[in-house]
This record gives sequence, C-alpha cells and structure tokens, in this order.
Amino acid sequence: MKTAIFAHRGASGYAPENTMPAFQLAYELGAEGIETDVQLTKDGIPVLVHDEQVKRTTDGRGFIKNLTFEEVRRLDAGSWFSRKFTGTVIPSLEEFLEWAVDKPLYLNIELKNNKIDYSNLEAIVYDTVLRFGLQKHCTLSTFNEESVKKIKRIGNSISAALLTSRAEGNPVTKAAKLGADALHIKYRLLGSNVMMHADKQQMPVRVYTVNKKVHMLQCMKLKADGIFTDLPDKALEYKNTY
Ligand code: G3P
Ligand code: CA
Repeated sequence: MKTAIFAHRGASGYAPENTMPAFQLAYELGAEGIETDVQLTKDGIPVLVHDEQVKRTTDGRGFIKNLTFEEVRRLDAGSWFSRKFTGTVIPSLEEFLEWAVDKPLYLNIELKNNKIDYSNLEAIVYDTVLRFGLQKHCTLSTFNEESVKKIKRIGNSISAALLTSRAEGNPVTKAAKLGADALHIKYRLLGSNVMMHADKQQMPVRVYTVNKKVHMLQCMKLKADGIFTDLPDKALEYKNTY
C-alpha cells in the first residue's frame, strides 16, 4: 500500500495552521488525510490549536485553558501568517468535523495533553467524533502514554496512536504495550528496523513532519503508512511519480 499523505495542521505551508482555510486548501490540493491538534478552552470546548499559548498564531495572549470559547473566537488566527487571512478564527473541533463529514478524508486528531493535563480531553474528543459517525475515518494520537491507555479504555471504536520523538528503546514495542493501534514517529527515528518490527506487529507507522523531498521519498521507499507534511501537494506529486 502506498504512503498516505496527511496535511500537517492543514496545508500549513500555504495557509495559517489549524484553520478552516488551511483544511479547505489541503482538501483542494488532494490530501488524503488531515492532521490537527486539539485542546480545551476554560469552559471545556475542544478547539484546534497547536501551542498551549495563543501568542505565536493569534493577535492575543494567554493559555487556551484560561480563555473561554467566546474569548478564543475573538482572536485573529490568520493575520500572523499573511494579511489576506485577517479575520480567520480558531475553529472548534465540532466545526472541523462538520466540514469533514462528507469528504473522503482520513482525520488525525492529536490530543495536545503532553504539557497540560486536560483531564477529560480523551472522552470529550472521543464522544464528539462518535457523534459525527467518523470513528472509522479517524485516529486519535498523543505523546502522552497514559492518554493512549485512557483512549483505549474508553472503547475500541476509534484507533489510537502513540506519538514519539524519543530515541530510546523500541518504539513499536512501546506502542503495542500501551495498546496503541499505530505509531506516529519523528522522521529522524525512522529506519528499516522500525518498519521491520512494525510489520511483525502489524502496526501502521506514520511519520512527522516530512517537508523535504528526499525525506518524503525515503518514507515512501520504506513503505511508511503515512506522512504528515506542511506541503501535501509536493508529497502527492512525488508519490504519483514514485
Ligand atoms: O501528529 C504529528 C505531529 O503533528 C506531531 O508534532 O509538534 O507538529 O504537533 P507537532
Ligand atoms: Ca500535531
């Protein structure tokens, strides 16, 4: 099977990350999947933002966990990237799923709970995905090992992936021990040994964040199940000629 191309935070090389314009563009460019990051506002609404603080990607300040949904929606999440995206807002998970529901896209929702312990994040995201009937088209991923176990305790309807950037030990074994259905690994950790172990365990391996042509081709050569890239159009071009 060929390597699936996931747009990392949407087509984030061309539009402000984790916004509806970035997701829409990824879809129009032909991405097979979309990766996004989820956190909870002060009032418990799941919203799509990568950093714990809003400073880098909006005109505001503070932690997502300390802002209400209404306050988050007042932020401009587009103009930092380019003036033409001024007025773009941070989407809720619900808005994203509503947009994705009739599209042939695979979704990877990363729970951003490795630095902040959003105690109910797993259940909230899980239930929201189920509500849209997208469980077969979605993987929940996290760097937080306890969170992988929590997701799997909720049920078996949605697959869970362990994210790792750590070189120590065998990441495939670690993911399997936690009950993960997939391993999402930093590019520099990918090698034929990882793929060999993954094949034995029948564990899909997806690789982040792959933006260079030579790295994309290496993932395809090693038959990685997926890559996360800011440049989905480039990856698709290489994939089609590979
Ligand atoms: O899900 C893959 C990748 O997005 C993980 O790293 O920092 O870009 O969220 P990061
Ligand atoms: Ca991510």
